[in-house]
Amino acid sequence: MLKTQNIDTVEVNYEEEILRLKKEMNAVILAHFYQESEIQDIADYIGDSLQLAQAAQKTEADVIVFAGVHFMAETAKILNPGKLVILPDMKAGCSLAEGCPASMLQKMKNKFPDHIVISYVNCSAEVKAISDIICTSSNAEKIVAQLPEDQKIIFAPDKNLGKYLIKKTGREMLLWQGSCIVHETFSEKKILHLRTEHPDAKIISHPECEETVLNYSDFIGSTSALLKFVQEDSAKEFIVATEPGILNQMKKKAPDKIFIAAPPEASCSCNECPYMKLNTMEKLYLCMKNKTPEITLNEDLRVKALKPILRMLKMS
Ligand code: 13P
Ligand code: SF4
Repeated sequence: MLKTQNIDTVEVNYEEEILRLKKEMNAVILAHFYQESEIQDIADYIGDSLQLAQAAQKTEADVIVFAGVHFMAETAKILNPGKLVILPDMKAGCSLAEGCPASMLQKMKNKFPDHIVISYVNCSAEVKAISDIICTSSNAEKIVAQLPEDQKIIFAPDKNLGKYLIKKTGREMLLWQGSCIVHETFSEKKILHLRTEHPDAKIISHPECEETVLNYSDFIGSTSALLKFVQEDSAKEFIVATEPGILNQMKKKAPDKIFIAAPPEASCSCNECPYMKLNTMEKLYLCMKNKTPEITLNEDLRVKALKPILRMLKMS
């Protein structure tokens, strides 16, 4: 792997420079499982959305360098108003967050005033601020199970995770019709074809996948749950229906097993999250060197968005 690059004719060893800057700034680098492997390898914590929010809540570092997407870094800032939170590329968004404007969700809320709003963490601070509880894919079931039986629920913004929760908990929920452009791309047909070529392989999927894919899955879970499953299960081969960045950790944690990335419908690499992949070692280095782009938030909005996040962390 190329470690050095020319920036304005100066040779930079990103790895060395990032580690030097980390010490100098008293920074912590948090990376999501979907980040490119070089970024995962240099991070202090690698995790799913919940684990990274928990790490952000506990850190004593002065600076949080968030190698993930915007809503994750924003959650870290909501939890740490006094810290500098930087994101290598401000354009690292998320189709779920972008497809759920707070003003529209507010309209839905107004129509159903007796419902509480549970929002998947993949949403903006504005959406969090009008939500009652936040959840991630690793704690959603646990959170819904703690609510009174007769509590009416609006679930936003992921319809696929919502449908999965309805099935698992038996609760009725009104679903916001959002989806992840990456997880919707997996082809049921191609996955089943792969299984005929690998009859002993288990199909494991993230709950953001469509119901048709989930129906064929041997195991469904958040990125950290998928990682745990491949280490503990007796199967030797897995067809993995989530962003292939996770394969880096799977191969490290279970080096004797075989992992096959589930294919997208078209002949493209659209099973890779285009937002997550905007972050590169070069941008990670530059954001630490220049202390920008920085996540900033209006204090009133931050305080409102904090409430449902803290509720989630308590219920997890
Ligand atoms: P996890 O919480 O499982 O890491 O999922 C986050 C995400 O964005 C999945 O697409
Ligand atoms: Fe958002 Fe999907 Fe990318 Fe996850 S994989 S960050 S849900 S667009």
